[in-house]
Amino acid sequence: MRHTLLSAVALLVLAAPTVAQQTANPYDSDPAAMRAGRALFANRCAECHGADARGFSGPDLTVLWAEGTSDERVFQTIRSGVSGSIMPSSTAPDNEIWAMVAYVKSISTVAAALDAPGDPERGQELVQARCTRCHYVAGGGGYLGPDLSRIGAVRTRESLMRSIREPAASIQPGYRTVTLVTPSGDRIRGVAKGEDAFSVQILDTRQQLRGYMKSDLAEVVREPVSLMPEFTSARLPDEDLNDIVRYLGTLRGNR
Ligand code: HEC
Ligand code: HEC
Repeated sequence: MRHTLLSAVALLVLAAPTVAQQTANPYDSDPAAMRAGRALFANRCAECHGADARGFSGPDLTVLWAEGTSDERVFQTIRSGVSGSIMPSSTAPDNEIWAMVAYVKSISTVAAALDAPGDPERGQELVQARCTRCHYVAGGGGYLGPDLSRIGAVRTRESLMRSIREPAASIQPGYRTVTLVTPSGDRIRGVAKGEDAFSVQILDTRQQLRGYMKSDLAEVVREPVSLMPEFTSARLPDEDLNDIVRYLGTLRGNR
């Protein structure tokens, strides 16, 4: 109900240009359209991208233009969604989508990503040296931690910083730390990849996938810590962290 009413209001405001196979935004910098776009965004997108579009469970959208996207590309992403993710496709009329594009662009920090501190090339070297042992990144690396090849498209700068300084603060399912103790006292540590009443599968710290029957183990110890070391400022100075996060922000994979 609320949705229908809002669409009607938005359509009234947006009545002006007829939009057919448009590639430039007909509402670019149009104040009425930006207001309508803001209402539509609050209703349909804010739950994931945040009311200010700066990211929540979906990514920060206010940095896209600074990173070189175009109105047309953002339009197409909203129209088609992102397959394999929770980002839905949209059947909204073109003019409503263009209005949302105009709104998000209007609140975008045009130079955000370019102004962000850090040197992405140095960041890439640091990541190769200190992270790819455990993380697959754009072409190579390990599997103990999640693949980072698209991490820039799905995490904000702030959440990346937190993941590196305090990895235990939020641990993804599939990466929980576990230690298996055998009857002879051997300990096998790794991330739990699967478990049922009788068996447990673990990717051990040498990155070998191993399965055990629970009846063959003395103990299964679950630990509320991450296998990723805490990169405190003593271990990773702020300057290095900035370079790394700046580089990770450029990793947007390709589908
Ligand atoms: C259910 C949660 C959800 C909703 C609702 C949602 N999104 Fe998304 N959106 C996401 C996620 C997650 C991604 C990242 C997908 C990926 O790349 O893996 C995303 C990606 C995007 C991107 C691409 C960002 C980039 O880096 O290129 C745009 C643009 C976007 N969303 C706009 C919108 C707009 C506008 C709406 C409302 C009409 C919306 N989204 C609704 C979750 C959502
Ligand atoms: C010893 C292995 C190891 C090393 C080295 C390591 N990580 Fe991790 N990382 C992990 C594991 C395991 C996880 C998943 C558990 C968690 O979220 O803490 C993880 C999680 C992450 C996440 C969260 C990913 C997501 O999808 O939310 C980021 C970001 C990350 N690591 C970045 C880095 C960076 C940058 C470095 C290098 C400075 C690094 N890691 C070094 C093992 C490692």
